Amino acid sequence: MTDQYTDLTQTAPSHLQTAVFYEIKDMPRGETATILFAEDPAIVLHSLNLQLRNNLRWEISRTEAGQWLTVIHRAEDVPPVDVLDALKRDHKRLDAMFSQVIHLTDQNHLVQAHAIMQAFVEGLRRHLAVEHDILAKAIRTPPNAMGQDPTAAMMQEHNEILNQSVMIELSFEETDATPASISPLLAILAGYLSKHEYREEASLFPIWTGAINKAPEAARSALFAQVMATLDGTL
Ligand SMILES: [Fe+2]
Ligand SMILES: [Fe+2]
Repeated sequence: MTDQYTDLTQTAPSHLQTAVFYEIKDMPRGETATILFAEDPAIVLHSLNLQLRNNLRWEISRTEAGQWLTVIHRAEDVPPVDVLDALKRDHKRLDAMFSQVIHLTDQNHLVQAHAIMQAFVEGLRRHLAVEHDILAKAIRTPPNAMGQDPTAAMMQEHNEILNQSVMIELSFEETDATPASISPLLAILAGYLSKHEYREEASLFPIWTGAINKAPEAARSALFAQVMATLDGTL
């Protein structure tokens, strides 16, 4: 792994986002960029990350001199290998965006939180399009031991998650929006979302994997291409 170091402590705040962009735009997967900032770069990085489809991750630490040392890397070092790998990564990606919304809301950065919430809802719609419109239609699932169709249960939860997400997105647009008015809604959805993803990965994904593995190679790769196109290169 190689690392490049840049000192941006003398860069004007209004130029920081562009400066960081030039530092990381050609950074290959597996490499890192270490950047020193005079002020907390969280908002600059969140906003750049939004432009870059949430493809960046970073760790921030304080130096003894009180500056902000940030190590930036790409979200994933290798591209997804198959449909279920792509969906699991998309869960993580959506979770990471949602955590950013919670963090920024708690810090009272409602404009940035709202922008990431919008990107989250857009990403969620794409994710659900893969699960509803592609996989659930292509693969029929038998009822489980309790007589329930696991696909139907998951699809019902999707509607609930999407409705709650849209409601939260709208609540950022209220003129009297405050962290206190939005944080409780975010907390409820965070719990619901992680339970859903866990159950889905435990109950539905093994069935989908089994069905996809039985399909002929040409059908498998066509499905993978369709899924990646629907996720729109975000992974
Ligand atoms: Fe789902
Ligand atoms: Fe999912």
